[in-house]
Amino acid sequence: MKNKRVATLTLDDGRSVELPILAGTLGPDVLDLHNLSKLGLFTYDPAFFSTASCSSKITFIDGDAGLLYYRGYPIEQLAEKSDFLEVCYLLLHGELPTAEQSADFNYRVKHHTMVHDQLARFFNGFRRDAHPMAVMVGVVGALSAFYHDSLDINNSEHREISALRLIAKLPTIAAMTYKYSIGEPFIYPKNKFSYVENFMCMMFATPAEEYVPNPKLVRALERIFILHADHEQNASTSTVRLAGSSGANPFACVASGIAALWGPAHGGANEAVLKMLEEIGDVSRVEEFMKGVKDKKYRLMGFGHRVYKNMDPRASVMRDTCYEVLKELRLEDDPMFKMAIALEQIALKDPYFIERKLYPNVDFYSGIVLRALGIPTSMFTVIFAVGRTIGWISQWNEMMSDSERKIGRPRQLYLGETKRNYMAVNKRR
Ligand code: CMC
Repeated sequence: MKNKRVATLTLDDGRSVELPILAGTLGPDVLDLHNLSKLGLFTYDPAFFSTASCSSKITFIDGDAGLLYYRGYPIEQLAEKSDFLEVCYLLLHGELPTAEQSADFNYRVKHHTMVHDQLARFFNGFRRDAHPMAVMVGVVGALSAFYHDSLDINNSEHREISALRLIAKLPTIAAMTYKYSIGEPFIYPKNKFSYVENFMCMMFATPAEEYVPNPKLVRALERIFILHADHEQNASTSTVRLAGSSGANPFACVASGIAALWGPAHGGANEAVLKMLEEIGDVSRVEEFMKGVKDKKYRLMGFGHRVYKNMDPRASVMRDTCYEVLKELRLEDDPMFKMAIALEQIALKDPYFIERKLYPNVDFYSGIVLRALGIPTSMFTVIFAVGRTIGWISQWNEMMSDSERKIGRPRQLYLGETKRNYMAVNKRR
């Protein structure tokens, strides 16, 4: 903390308290409200519009300027120059790995990609038409029933092994979820492939057909994973931290994060964007659709963000990736892409969106890329979960390494009945 500054809060009854102002390395200053308890007061900030729930050294967002840094590195540089496992190492350990550290990390992740054979039997308990996120919540939570040897949350080596297991096994479970839904046999991981190639192989190979990865498509999915890897204290990450604050194990915490991610206001938005584009159906109907958005009949999915009041830097990378993938697949005339461009162009000029500072977010284009890669719409949020797992586990690990960790326990503004006495049923009206 740079220097000691304070704000003084004076109540209408004359009592006052000093609130220290804390300065981070970047971003707005933060009022430390611990002293409020001296006045018997709590803050009221539903949906956390003005609340920093923790301190962290992992990810920085400047929503007004449209900046996103992982451990200080701009997302655009990482998306262009890095690979997903290097980004995982960076988020988890705080620094980019040396060549030796990178080789070791790759080896260790690769050798944790298989799941316990008995875990495969879980899938038979689900309907084939279950939403893949429903299956993910259950199966990832079940990992805690299999890996008892890494569940001591106070042991940093155990936490590291759990992190490696989660990063390594999530793609395997995600691909199994997909294969189960279409009635095809599970494909085992192959160590000759990179992390992303391996995931695509488990998704698209069959026992009858070898999988030959297309480097451009692999690179596109690698970028999607990098862009989704972390996003500071969003809804699912805060869920993981809160679950972890009680001492729950990392597999259970990540399952809770997957549940929070599922909603259409968060990770479910990429699926919702594609459904929206399908409903619009044609560029000629874009204007009419936008009228409904402005009349607040429905939202323009993939637009707006709690923190970004400028272009989401991930959306710009995703739009470029979209061009590249569609070109590679000779799908430049893709009607979905044309509709998305038309929607974006109207929105960026329209006072409704300008006044509210609504810009495309990462999900606006990612769905079009995923669809072009052959990934079905219902799997989109699963892909987000695979990418975000490293963010969840890095944030969880940061919290668990803090010796002053305490259980998260918000208070409330109570608006219910005051005290009243129990009444026998025959006296109630
Ligand atoms: N389309 C139309 N109007 C919108 C939209 C939208 N997508 N988003 C916000 N607004 C309007 C909203 O109606 C409100 O208007 P008014 O001031 O007249 O009441 C104003 O903008 C502020 O919206 P809010 O709901 O109070 O803002 P929020 O910060 O609570 O919500 C959000 C953020 C992301 C949930 C919201 O923008 C939204 O629902 N977007 C669509 C879903 C989406 O794309 N989500 C993905 C987010 S990025 C991926 C991730 O991090 O998970």
